[in-house]
Amino acid sequence: MESNEKPTRRSFLDLVIAVFSAITAAALAIPALAYLWPAARGGGAERVQLEGAADMTAGQSKTIRVGSTAVVVVKDRDGFNAFSAVCTHLGCLVTWSSEQKQFFCPCHAAVFGADGGVLSGPPPTPLVRYTVIELGDEVYISPA
Ligand code: FES
Repeated sequence: MESNEKPTRRSFLDLVIAVFSAITAAALAIPALAYLWPAARGGGAERVQLEGAADMTAGQSKTIRVGSTAVVVVKDRDGFNAFSAVCTHLGCLVTWSSEQKQFFCPCHAAVFGADGGVLSGPPPTPLVRYTVIELGDEVYISPA
């Protein structure tokens, strides 16, 4: 049995509002879910090989990407240390000085030691340490 009711302007507007509400909810929910479940977008517990590790000398550093994070890998006499390059203050990227053996943040002049600890400046916590796995000449970096 067919309905002989004609669509009203009000029912059309209700439909339009419902469609736009659904699109808005999806536009907000998808990035939020991707943030909460980074493994779903390939940024989870990833292990990345450090290219050219065997050629690095003590004091040298390389910046690599692990998942979605820039990571600074520093070689010292005992092996490798890896830290997130993201400053724990407001998220600028730190750089390693092989002469001073410290990390520097250009945004607010923070200084981090070779162990990632805060030496001066506003950062509330040390740099985030990454796990280093050395297998002969191959070096792998992964989140702690
Ligand atoms: S963002 Fe690094 S010190 Fe402020």
